[in-house]
Amino acid sequence: MKVTISVIKADIGGYVGHSSTHPEVVAKVEEYAKAGVEKGILLDASVITCGDDIAIVMTHTKGKDNEEIHKLAWDAFVAGTEVAKKLKLYGAGQDLLADAFSGNVKGMGPGVAEMEIEERKSEPFIVYFADKTSPSAWNLALYEMFADPMNTAGLVIDPSMHDGFTFEVMDVYSGKAVKLETPRELYDLLVFIGATSRYVVRAVYRNRDGEIAAVASTQKLSLMAGRYVGKDDPVLIVRCQSGFPAVGEALEPFARPWLVEGWMRGSHTGPLMPVSFKEAKPTRFDGPPRVIAAGYQLCEGKLVGPNDLFDDPAFDDARNRCALLANQLRRQGIFEPHRLPPEEMEYTTLPKVLEKLKDRFVDIGEPEAKAPGSGEGEIHE
Ligand code: F6R
Ligand code: MG
Repeated sequence: MKVTISVIKADIGGYVGHSSTHPEVVAKVEEYAKAGVEKGILLDASVITCGDDIAIVMTHTKGKDNEEIHKLAWDAFVAGTEVAKKLKLYGAGQDLLADAFSGNVKGMGPGVAEMEIEERKSEPFIVYFADKTSPSAWNLALYEMFADPMNTAGLVIDPSMHDGFTFEVMDVYSGKAVKLETPRELYDLLVFIGATSRYVVRAVYRNRDGEIAAVASTQKLSLMAGRYVGKDDPVLIVRCQSGFPAVGEALEPFARPWLVEGWMRGSHTGPLMPVSFKEAKPTRFDGPPRVIAAGYQLCEGKLVGPNDLFDDPAFDDARNRCALLANQLRRQGIFEPHRLPPEEMEYTTLPKVLEKLKDRFVDIGEPEAKAPGSGEGEIHE
């Protein structure tokens, strides 16, 4: 049976500030999702939250980019926004950038990750959902899951994974994407996905048969709106077992925390903390960034789950290490590299202050240099 898994998410209001969602708002979104199942538009739906974001995990038979499915999610978020407005929650309707729905939620604010699959004899998959960070937060995790044999033993010892995986990488500025096959093109892949401010992994395919293995939301809200409207708080769907990473291999990268962009005002570097659903409420300095893992089994298109996969004491050490990293980084205050460089900050007063002081900058006889990162004069052969 061909089934489409569509995960559509948005921040439609925070409680309190940007830390969490309000139960009445979540209940309203759930009501719409349930109605979609009752009307037969969806096979099933499950609503999950992380920080101030809500995601609707939907299964159906209508394929990707389907107008009816996207409209259902949009309407659910609009209705949830009404509740958020009534409660005067913070940033009510924040991610709904358009006034009215027009065909597809992409470009309208919500984040989207979708895959169409032939449901296997048993189809386990994980929906990862992060708050206070951006889609490139998945780059390192996806590399380890699908291309690093030190993380994923199956790449070496499971014949059905041994041919490796192909990564589709998007340049968020040009909107173009390139497919790179690992292990053959691993070093080329890493040239791009290590540059997390520009390149994000959009999807991963199995080389043996081209099967879709993972798909991420890659919308960059700040670029869409042309102004700061919050970090993009991404979702990621990963298929597991029997030729894909085992559930434990797919979770393993998160046991060793790394640093991502986001946190306070979307303008800081911080550790990505793997947490249970209950702990997905970032409050310290509006963070540190959180990630949950919602595990599901598909059963004739129905969602059996979610199972709260980071609700495991084996991830306590990762959480503790994130807290220590947070302490260390907070010591830097407003100084880089805790605070992001100016071009990566979501909020900045730099142009205004520069403008105010422009007449006070005087020539002191130093030569002009190209701005770092312009690429010119930086090729080492
Ligand atoms: C980051 C985030 C928060 C806000 C911060 C200031 O993604 O959502 O850290 O940026 O709380 O919020 P405003 O500007 O709404 O007062
Ligand atoms: Mg958020």
